[in-house]
Amino acid sequence: MTTRILPESLLVDRVGVLVTNDPRLGPGPLGPVTDAAVVVEGGRVAWVGPSAHAPAADVRVDAAGRCLVPGFVDSHSHVVFAGDRGREFAARMNGEPYRAGGIHATVAATRAATDAELRANAVRLLREARAQGTTTLEVKTGYGLTVADEERSARIAARLTDEVTFLGAHVVPPEYADDPAGYVDLVTGPMLAACAPHARWIDVFCERGAFDADAARAVLTAGRSGGLLARVHGNQLGPGPGVRLAVELGAASVDHCTHLDAADVAALADSASAGGTVATLLLGVEFSTRQPYPDARALLDAGAVVALAGDCNPGSCFTSSIALCIALAVREMRMSPDEALWAATAGGAAALRRADIGHLGVGARADMLLLDAPDPVYLAYRPGVPQTAAVWKDGDLVAGDPG
Ligand code: NIG
Ligand code: FE
Repeated sequence: MTTRILPESLLVDRVGVLVTNDPRLGPGPLGPVTDAAVVVEGGRVAWVGPSAHAPAADVRVDAAGRCLVPGFVDSHSHVVFAGDRGREFAARMNGEPYRAGGIHATVAATRAATDAELRANAVRLLREARAQGTTTLEVKTGYGLTVADEERSARIAARLTDEVTFLGAHVVPPEYADDPAGYVDLVTGPMLAACAPHARWIDVFCERGAFDADAARAVLTAGRSGGLLARVHGNQLGPGPGVRLAVELGAASVDHCTHLDAADVAALADSASAGGTVATLLLGVEFSTRQPYPDARALLDAGAVVALAGDCNPGSCFTSSIALCIALAVREMRMSPDEALWAATAGGAAALRRADIGHLGVGARADMLLLDAPDPVYLAYRPGVPQTAAVWKDGDLVAGDPG
């Protein structure tokens, strides 16, 4: 007779408010269940319901009335880099504008760094994010801008996350300043070939001072031919073609969306009904560059799908705190606390085209954040205050202590 070893099961019991993001389980998009319990088996949610009916499990955690939410899905980061730009930030706070050209300082530092240095910095930031409740972090290349430096950036990112994005088209590096078309050829040719095996996504910074619509289209279509899915940086520093291009090419997300006209909003709203392009707002950037915030209300009221993401990078926004983004979204962009939490979880999952994360319905990955708070509104209500009690990824405790 053989002994079958069952995977250890986990019961999180006596949850004050469980946010499932499954509207079949509770009222509204957050699908909240009060006085709830969750059972995890094999890294997946196996049962959700009232605490009073919870089945037994190998391990029991007493949430003691605290709130359990899906782990944050941060669909936009640039954590593979070296160096810092603290002085650039200080100059900005003294009135200097943010310029895409600051990226070159990070490119120089990144090229000069060893693989071990790049990896250590990225791991440190990933852990920092995880300790604050982020269970999925997309990671971009984009500070190497040579075939070898982009390839190693993608390789390092792939050891940290399944959501790797090739962003060779971040800016044109100095050695191609006189030949931007030659740089697009490099990105769409040998650089793409070297990076695609490590990546799921292709991205382009479609902006004045970076890549225009034609170059961006060439990059995205080449990436798709190479087996990658499209996402776009667009309409960050001014109005432009990024949003329309993203929708036209069926990109999963267009990120920033700071300067939109009515046609951009309509295009995003139209695409939403077809499960198309998510508007990902990176409002830590506006906070850190002292720019006007995106018009989240216009997008939401028109019916666009909105995600919130962190954009952790050394230039425009050096935060890994999604809780801060939620607080800012509520205070500065007039999103409701529910809308902001949905956008940072289910919205991020939509922006990554992932059905297995961003919710806690049965079958979802058990990526969960136990808050030291009785209600999810506390994420916005207590800005800047650490409220992470425990974080599980695929059912494994990866940060904190549930007590
Ligand atoms: O998402 N917009 C382009 N890239 C980054 C900023 C990069 C930098 O300043 O180093 C962003 O904001
Ligand atoms: Fe970015």
